[in-house]
Amino acid sequence: MFSTLQLQEILETAIKNLKFPENPKQLYDPITYIINLGGKRIRPLLVLMATDLFGKNPNDAVHAAMAVEVFHNFTLVHDDIMDNAPLRRGKATVHEKWSINVAILSGDVMMVEANKNLAKVNVKYLKDVLDTFNATAQGVCEGQQLDMEFEERDDVSIEEYINMIRLKTAILLGGALKLGAIIAEASEKDANLIYDFGENIGIAFQLQDDILDVYADPEKFGKQVGGDIIANKKTFLLLKAFELAENENLNLLQNLTKQTEFNPKDKIEAVKGIYDTLDIQNIAKTTMNTYMNKALELMAQINVSDQAKAKILELTTQLMARQF
Ligand code: IPE
Ligand code: IPE
Ligand code: MG
Ligand code: MG
Ligand code: MG
Repeated sequence: MFSTLQLQEILETAIKNLKFPENPKQLYDPITYIINLGGKRIRPLLVLMATDLFGKNPNDAVHAAMAVEVFHNFTLVHDDIMDNAPLRRGKATVHEKWSINVAILSGDVMMVEANKNLAKVNVKYLKDVLDTFNATAQGVCEGQQLDMEFEERDDVSIEEYINMIRLKTAILLGGALKLGAIIAEASEKDANLIYDFGENIGIAFQLQDDILDVYADPEKFGKQVGGDIIANKKTFLLLKAFELAENENLNLLQNLTKQTEFNPKDKIEAVKGIYDTLDIQNIAKTTMNTYMNKALELMAQINVSDQAKAKILELTTQLMARQF
């Protein structure tokens, strides 16, 4: 068995060894830029951890792990265009540093690069790996579309929100784990259990992301704090606030989300003020823990030793306490 640190070292070496063509520079430079800005590398780590969990050599899953991380970075480049985000990992987003057109096309070619990594997976598993990867990638697009549509709607339910974040975020964590399980030749039952585990931690992960978007320390967060409020994102926090707010607070919230011209700082402060009055942050954390607990129940059903599960469980705990 490998330690988490060893798995992280395998990943960093593999990332350093990723090679992209040189020209045209405006197509390929953004790829190296965004990937070398770092990030937590959670998804590729989950691929390797799942292979390790089911008793196989995580080195066998490195190409799948790279495919997942390159794909993830591609989704961030396009997400930042859609969310009009200025900052990513503490630096200018690709569309800010280059242009929207560059960010679109670099993103597109990153998807191709992700596929080139997938094609290196042992042919024995390739069909299952491709099916899982494609289903995941398609789901992410569906989730992103819903996320944008929800910005314009004022009747989004919490149930719809959970389904949207399941698609845009959670299935990639589930898919990453399932890819690792497929490569480890885990039973279909265990591969599905680890996928469902991943979906639940993924939902908790996005809830935490929504909380951080409002409450993170800007120095540590690396993204624009309050971006979701500015864009009227139908996050769990906003939907809960609409559900619980009464009288003046409800009016104020309605007015704030209807404004077309506003000072971003004032809007963020005002919405945050309402969240604080309604204790929204704690409610969001409780919901996050509910999904964490569902994930733990699923993990308990997986047919491997508790010792083998320790690394993934430790990582999940760390993710829920993260500050960026
Ligand atoms: C950001 O993912 C996108 C979400 C699904 C919230 P991460 O928080 O894993 O981003 P990096 O890769 O560590 O920067
Ligand atoms: C992330 O949602 C979903 C994807 C990138 C697919 P967010 O829009 O909340 O992610 P951040 O906060 O920009 O990282
Ligand atoms: Mg975003
Ligand atoms: Mg987004
Ligand atoms: Mg976010």
